Amino acid sequence: MHLTDAEQAVLDGESGEGAQKAMELVVALGKVYGAEGLVDITSAHLSGASYKTIGDGGLKYLSDLAAGGAKVSVPSTLNPIGMDRERWAEMHIGSDFAEKQNEIVRLYGAMGVKTTCSCTPYTGANVPKTGDHIAWAESSALSFANAMIGARTNREGGPGALAAAIVGKTANYGLHLDANRRPTVVIEADIGDSLFEHSLLGQAVGMRIGGGIPYFRGIRPGLEEGKTMAAAMAAAGAVAMWHVEGVTPEAAGCDLEGLETIHIGKAELEDAFERINTADDVQLIALGCPHLTEREMHEIASLLKGRKKRGDAEIWFCTSAAVRERCAEDVRVLEEFGPVLADTCMVVAPIEGSFSRTGTNSCKAGNYLPTLCSQKVMCRDIAELLKVVS
Ligand code: F3S
Repeated sequence: MHLTDAEQAVLDGESGEGAQKAMELVVALGKVYGAEGLVDITSAHLSGASYKTIGDGGLKYLSDLAAGGAKVSVPSTLNPIGMDRERWAEMHIGSDFAEKQNEIVRLYGAMGVKTTCSCTPYTGANVPKTGDHIAWAESSALSFANAMIGARTNREGGPGALAAAIVGKTANYGLHLDANRRPTVVIEADIGDSLFEHSLLGQAVGMRIGGGIPYFRGIRPGLEEGKTMAAAMAAAGAVAMWHVEGVTPEAAGCDLEGLETIHIGKAELEDAFERINTADDVQLIALGCPHLTEREMHEIASLLKGRKKRGDAEIWFCTSAAVRERCAEDVRVLEEFGPVLADTCMVVAPIEGSFSRTGTNSCKAGNYLPTLCSQKVMCRDIAELLKVVS
């Protein structure tokens, strides 16, 4: 693997211990994946932010890195953490967890990371441009960035993305290279316009193809449809790159000759629905996977306006702090039903201590809630879920 003199100097420890450790990891990953060299990145997005998922071992790792003087050298944002930083008590979270979670955020901040704590950084906090090389580690966000923006990132793990953020470079392999971004299968999608159908489409495709690169025809996703599809495909399979005809910047140049074509319509969506639904009633409804956008906040507020909260099930609305602030009027309507939480989500929060049956409109959450949170899942369209509590 070729390193420039400047890169070698960092590896030799000339920029300090933190940068040296980070470069060692970036180079080790590059060797494993056969990279010929490194490539400069314009931004990083880091996972491994919730105390629930990284535990005391992760906290110690971050503490050592920060003590070694590690600092990020490119704009870097952070994924959701295990709680709303102010409203954690409303999430039934204890002060021990809160203290450790706050320490994790403090350590990332000390390393220069923007502690925005959202899985939709591309809506404002961290917006890459087409063609940018980036190192992102949130499966839904990186998939969105590759497909909907045309930026270039592999499916980074938390430590790998943090190391790349520190050295400002990542190993040049996988989805950083043209040859590995080409479609492997054509998907003829025959679905309606709703967000939920786009989530089920992502689920059906992820289940069917696993880790390939689908080329979609028959859909025209915008921000919300794109984010829910990206999330579902990454969770049901391991899709990190996809094309949509007329949407993905690189789609126009794709050679589709000889590729298998798969039809995904009503029957496949029904199959995906059956597989993901395991509960008939819920104790918690959690919306916002990935984090709710302004349009979604507004649509939910329109559905709830004039209705009254009923039943015992709790409802949480998960979004970024920036969107919560921008949607003050909608927040007032939503808060009549349940808390509008920032910085967190139903999967990375320790909900298993308080609930065992959760409702979501996201197939990504539908995949992870049983395994990471021991939940049975009701996965439905938002309007259907809201009927349970209003
Ligand atoms: Fe975001 Fe949590 Fe879903 S991090 S994509 S809301 S599982």
